[in-house]
Amino acid sequence: MRDAAPDQSNQTIYLRDYAPVPVTVTHVDLSFRLDPKATRVQARLTCARQGPGDMVLDGEGLKTISVAIDGTAITPRIDGDRMILTDLPDAFLLETEVEIAPQDNTALSGLYMSNGMYCTQCEAEGFRRITWMLDRPDVMATYDVEIEADLPVLLSNGDEKGAGRWHDPWPKPTYLFALVAGNLVATSDSFTTSEGRDVALNVWVRPGDEGRTSYALDALKRSMLWDEKVYGRAYDLSVFNIVAVDDFNMGAMENKGLNVFNSRYVLASPETATDADYANIERIVAHEYFHNWTGNRITCRDWFQLCLKEGLTVFRDQQFSQDARGFATQRIGDIMTLRARQFREDAGPLAHPVRPESFVEINNFYTATIYEKGAEVIGMLRTLVGAEGYDAGVALYFERHDGQACTIEDWLACFAEATGRDLSQFMLWYRQAGTPRLTVTEDFNNGVYTLDLKQTVPDTPGQTNKSPMTLPLAYGLLDATGTEIRPTDVFEMTDRAARLSFNLPEKPVLSMLRGFSAPVVLEFAQSDADRLILLAHDTDPFTRWEAGRALAKDRLMRAVAEGAGFDAGWIDAVATLATDADADPAFRALALALPSEDDLAASLHGSGVVPDPDAIYIARRAASHAIATRLASDLPGLRAACATPGAYDPRAEDAGKRSLSATLLRLQTLLDGGAAARAAYDAADNMTDRMAAFTCVLDAGDTEVAARFEADWQHDRLVMDKWFMAQVAHAAPNDAVDVASKLTAHRDFDPGNPNRFRAVIGGLTAGNPAGFHRADGAGYAFLADWLLRLDKANPQTTARMSTAFDSWRRFDADRQDLIRTQLDRMAGTEGLSRDLGEMVARMLA
Ligand code: ARG
Ligand code: ZN
Repeated sequence: MRDAAPDQSNQTIYLRDYAPVPVTVTHVDLSFRLDPKATRVQARLTCARQGPGDMVLDGEGLKTISVAIDGTAITPRIDGDRMILTDLPDAFLLETEVEIAPQDNTALSGLYMSNGMYCTQCEAEGFRRITWMLDRPDVMATYDVEIEADLPVLLSNGDEKGAGRWHDPWPKPTYLFALVAGNLVATSDSFTTSEGRDVALNVWVRPGDEGRTSYALDALKRSMLWDEKVYGRAYDLSVFNIVAVDDFNMGAMENKGLNVFNSRYVLASPETATDADYANIERIVAHEYFHNWTGNRITCRDWFQLCLKEGLTVFRDQQFSQDARGFATQRIGDIMTLRARQFREDAGPLAHPVRPESFVEINNFYTATIYEKGAEVIGMLRTLVGAEGYDAGVALYFERHDGQACTIEDWLACFAEATGRDLSQFMLWYRQAGTPRLTVTEDFNNGVYTLDLKQTVPDTPGQTNKSPMTLPLAYGLLDATGTEIRPTDVFEMTDRAARLSFNLPEKPVLSMLRGFSAPVVLEFAQSDADRLILLAHDTDPFTRWEAGRALAKDRLMRAVAEGAGFDAGWIDAVATLATDADADPAFRALALALPSEDDLAASLHGSGVVPDPDAIYIARRAASHAIATRLASDLPGLRAACATPGAYDPRAEDAGKRSLSATLLRLQTLLDGGAAARAAYDAADNMTDRMAAFTCVLDAGDTEVAARFEADWQHDRLVMDKWFMAQVAHAAPNDAVDVASKLTAHRDFDPGNPNRFRAVIGGLTAGNPAGFHRADGAGYAFLADWLLRLDKANPQTTARMSTAFDSWRRFDADRQDLIRTQLDRMAGTEGLSRDLGEMVARMLA
């Protein structure tokens, strides 16, 4: 019988075209006979009519062996990647058998192999690469799965009914299906839910990795407890499995009862993982677990509603991490990520609404806008309706929509009803792309302090003339001594312009956008004096940190644009904070970190200056040098005060000290040519300190250390990812492309492994901006070469990496020409994947 073709259509899909299926599937019975080259999949689909029309099933790259309806073999019409069944009864059993080759599946979507194990990734549309099915989230079915293979561990969703037999009683869409088979070992524990259910917990890894599972398991138990305590949500199966997979396109996947993780987000030991790795593991374990309610029990009607589960689940994992690690540093870190990734996306050709209205390839929409801006939108909603209103709205959502596939309208209706608020203007946060700009001007006259506020929402692809948004603006006022004279209040701005006035004896210091209460670009020419007062005294950790950042940004931008030097007043303020033993070390580390090169490029561009990547690099280095020189005699003592005696502990308190210590070592390196860093490298007894020292030694231009690192760690894939990335990210800008290019010839460079590909290529594009933007265009050609090379094998990872080009219109005409040449070259390449094709087309538009 004819094969289902790989899907190559480049058709745009529109939200407005959504229609429910005429015939749905209520139960799925699957049996797998696993074989690397010829896996047989038998599917028995219990089908039921719910409206008039044909049944159109999805299948991609399947070799169809047989199809039968109610036991009678048929020859169906197969048109590319669709199977069209006509003249169907109201209820029937559809049986198919197909053959697939997991070993040849390099796209890592559907059923594939990684290091000898079988695993699946079905979100968003990978199930159709396993068997014929209605591969869309509004078709929810119960599942029975049978796995036959000569392997010790055979896993699928739900509860185990016998060797290799699984039953999932909770109706779910295809994208939550999972199968894992291999030679795996588990670290196990148990959890008793608030409802009295005993749950077996397992973290499955390859033999040899068992010693690195305890942190993930601990994070899982804490997540389960947290969701019961904070959201009243208990787990609903007898087992919860987590599997670590080495080859994985994304971070992790929330398959019902069988979460599959990129191994870098599971495996941790003090010797191999950094504090950042531990924090990511905690966050992602929580994220995937929280999806069990926000995503699985209540799922999305269609992929346009992706933020319904992702924005909400990111918001929940951020709340969890704040509780686990401290509010201030977690919130500031999340805001830094949002700005670095989402603001950048929102300002360029890939900008799209939190709920997009069209797409070509849905995998291109697992973006910072859907995830991180989606989470900020939930945070604003909570600010607007209050903590109690939020709890009431969420409770109504769970009660009303459990077991359903929903829309953003369903979600907001729960809040409108629970709180009586009209949320129609708020809905614009889901519809309008672009980061709103909030301009603030202040005036003090005759005892009256006046604030004029103006908001504009910039044009984005396909959207102009936007309406004003609801902006919850949290603010407070301080007096000239830094005493708070007006605690936090939230002004709900709904119009394009607004004015606030206050009767006060003297001009206050404005602390605007506390907690970053709305994801906007704040344009407020606040005086240095006021910023210094905020930096020293503000009660809100975000605005306090932000004041320091604004001071730094202002200096750095002037240094780049006008060659201005760094004033002692600013350097003193930085030094004061750095040496403030009473301040939290993690906060001090955040306050000492200068705005990133990309952040500066974006800000310069926003202020009408064409950013020069080399000048930005030089200015940041000069600023660091000035700070280091000012602190020179303090550095050894400050570092010593960061010591964390005893065995390595990943807890936030210790991580904060290590983070400050690393920041100080980086400054020290600018003064001593890497002497202290070399000593720190030798003395390190954990990977956090080791990586900090390693990258400092590289910064000092000493590459010999890389050979030692390699000799010590070449057996360890995850540590070697760090080795690959660090050398590229910490190469001198002029060497970075050559370093990266040389590393792609290393015997352990495997572009088919997404982590390794991202380590080297991403090490350049994200880790070394001045190197990537080398004036001769070598960085651009290097990236395009690798994108074209990987595109056929793994379009998802390729398309994602291509976003490195999305800021191209910021730069000078020569660089724009060089990048356009590469974009054109890709666009003109025959057989380009739909994934990369869509990205390139959007970036060129
Ligand atoms: N739902 C997963 C998560 O956020 C992400 C999976 C995305 N996969 C993809 N192929 N786009 O946890
Ligand atoms: Zn998610």
